[in-house]
Amino acid sequence: MTFKPIKNICCIGAGYVGGPTMAVIAQKCPDIKVNVVDVNAQRIASWNDENLDNLPIYEPGLKEVISETRGKNLFFSTEIEKAIEEAEMIFISVNTPTKTYGKGKGMAADLKYVELCARKIAEVAKSDKIIVEKSTLPVRTAQAIKSILDNVGTGVKYHILSNPEFLAEGTAINDLHNSDRVLIGGDHTTPEGQAAMDALTHIYERWLPSERILQTNLWSSELSKLTANAFLAQRVSSINSISALCEATGANVEEVAQAIGSDSRIGDKFLKASVGFGGSCFQKDILNLVYICRSLNLKEVADYWEQVIIMNDYQKYRFADNIISTLYNTVTDKKITFFGWAFKKDTNDTRESAAIYVADYLLEDRANIFVYDPKVKTEQIYMDIDNMNTRSEQENRNSLFVINDPYKASKDAHAIAILTEWDEFKTYDWQIIYDQMKKPAFIFDGRNIIDSKKLADIGFKVYQIGKTV
Ligand code: NAD
Ligand code: UGA
Repeated sequence: MTFKPIKNICCIGAGYVGGPTMAVIAQKCPDIKVNVVDVNAQRIASWNDENLDNLPIYEPGLKEVISETRGKNLFFSTEIEKAIEEAEMIFISVNTPTKTYGKGKGMAADLKYVELCARKIAEVAKSDKIIVEKSTLPVRTAQAIKSILDNVGTGVKYHILSNPEFLAEGTAINDLHNSDRVLIGGDHTTPEGQAAMDALTHIYERWLPSERILQTNLWSSELSKLTANAFLAQRVSSINSISALCEATGANVEEVAQAIGSDSRIGDKFLKASVGFGGSCFQKDILNLVYICRSLNLKEVADYWEQVIIMNDYQKYRFADNIISTLYNTVTDKKITFFGWAFKKDTNDTRESAAIYVADYLLEDRANIFVYDPKVKTEQIYMDIDNMNTRSEQENRNSLFVINDPYKASKDAHAIAILTEWDEFKTYDWQIIYDQMKKPAFIFDGRNIIDSKKLADIGFKVYQIGKTV
């Protein structure tokens, strides 16, 4: 059976994944109409903002792709039902956060938004559809989606595909343009199932070589996404565990990372020691993996992966605790300046950022924290710290301040903590910063981005991860 080329796509969920992925599909397939829909009217309004600096997410290169496609074959709207009806292929790209209530609380992925999408499609669709899971989902979710869709009795036929997204924030557009691989899981065993997979393959083939597009069965595809994130996070936790050992022994974690990374079997990526990984997915996806293993009575497997999270929590705590002990065992009423709040550079996303946890820990010791981040908005920073529910909103506002200038933010500070590896931090006039700080002037580099020798020569007391400076 040959597939029918797709002419109309709907994507439910206009977030960090839905927005950039659909923008790139629209850019590379000008003959396909792409409707990105969301229940969040404010987010849609930002996607439609005339001023491209007001897009809801910041990603290098995104503005250019949006200006090329928006209003031509890429549309953002809240008209979900209309977009579903029109589409031949529907991507589900909604959030799948860790459950905060009930069964699986704190571990399992919350699939309520995905289920709502499936029910909405079942209610509205009048013609056959290919449904594509773009969200990261527990293995075998496609079965639940299919069951919801097939049991409404409208006679509409559905083919479910899994097409997990591997982009990383901050490099999303480049990752989409030059994906290492695209994974398409589906049902090879029926001609219709194969045709659905081929229809999606054909879209990606417009800009990626065929050998990078892998077709697998549904469950392999769903599980590969969780496994990929678990392996990546595991590398960060592994090098971070060694960073603690380096500090205790005088070894240098960067030299160790280079030495082991030169072995082609190990490779050099994801070996950058840090204050701890953040982001919306690593922790969520590993917790989900652990939950699935526990549910299947695979205790040892669950414990193995859980250790990646335990090590990450330890690294954040270790960094914060070192600030307190270095500053003579108290930061009460001391000014600590944070350079960076985002979970990594080149994004305004702060979900699970290490900065939030380090700030919360220091605020418990009654520090005054002054935050500067080049892209994160003030409201977001307060929302993040309030969401920790450690103290009242008023108390947070009395002791955490957001300053939009790094020099003002660090004036009279007892210490600076670098939480995000923004490139601009490397270009500052550190002599000016040193001169206006309290002495001794401490700097805690949670990303190992500054030139420690240069700063030590200026007079700073420098601490870096996995090094004894
Ligand atoms: P996000 O929170 O930025 O966006 C999700 C959007 O879905 C929100 O705007 C929300 O309003 C919308 N939504 C939720 N329920 C809806 C409904 N019923 N109808 C219409 N809209 C609805 O999330 P994200 O970061 O884009 O992540 C989406 C999925 O992709 C998650 O499963 C995540 O694990 C996965 N993923 C994320 C990344 C990443 O870098 N952020 C990368 C790969 C995979
Ligand atoms: C990660 C994966 O890299 C993507 O492939 C995946 O699609 C995505 O999760 C997802 O499923 O959401 P992302 O979280 O955007 O992407 O960013 P990463 O570059 O993976 O960084 C994650 C965290 O690890 C950041 O806090 C980063 O600073 C930290 N990190 C990364 C390190 O501390 N050291 C490293 O060597 C690499």
